[in-house]
Amino acid sequence: MHHSWIPLLLVLALSGSAGAQGRANVARGAEVYAEQKCAACHSIDGQGNRNGPLDDVGRRLTAEEIRLWLTDPRAMTEKTKATRMPPMPAYTNLSKEDLEALVAYMQSLQKDS
Ligand code: HEC
Repeated sequence: MHHSWIPLLLVLALSGSAGAQGRANVARGAEVYAEQKCAACHSIDGQGNRNGPLDDVGRRLTAEEIRLWLTDPRAMTEKTKATRMPPMPAYTNLSKEDLEALVAYMQSLQKDS
């Protein structure tokens, strides 16, 4: 009888875990990526513009660098001496939640090249 609350505690612990939240963020980030039509200039798994592959961007860049690409692309273009045209536009109109979800999605792209 006194063991009956254990499954409930487990459910609470799992649903509140960072892992579950992280996965939700990544899924939302993939939606934002599609909504914002990032694939016009970038590709993931060969889908989209292959001149800008992002398959391993989560290994190459930190979360902060990815965030800066989205919010201050001119600075990042200058810093990395990127020359591809058209240049990366700024996405300053995204909600904080959507921006962080997009960053989480980019960080999840860790393919070995
Ligand atoms: C009009 C074209 C264009 C669009 C649209 C665009 N980007 Fe970019 N992006 C670029 C260019 C150009 C660069 C510079 C590096 C390169 O040549 O790929 C870049 C760089 C990046 C980088 C750094 C890549 C690296 O290899 O270091 C990330 C991350 C990125 N973009 C994510 C996004 C996301 C997410 C979106 C949609 C919200 C998006 N971009 C939309 C053109 C674009």
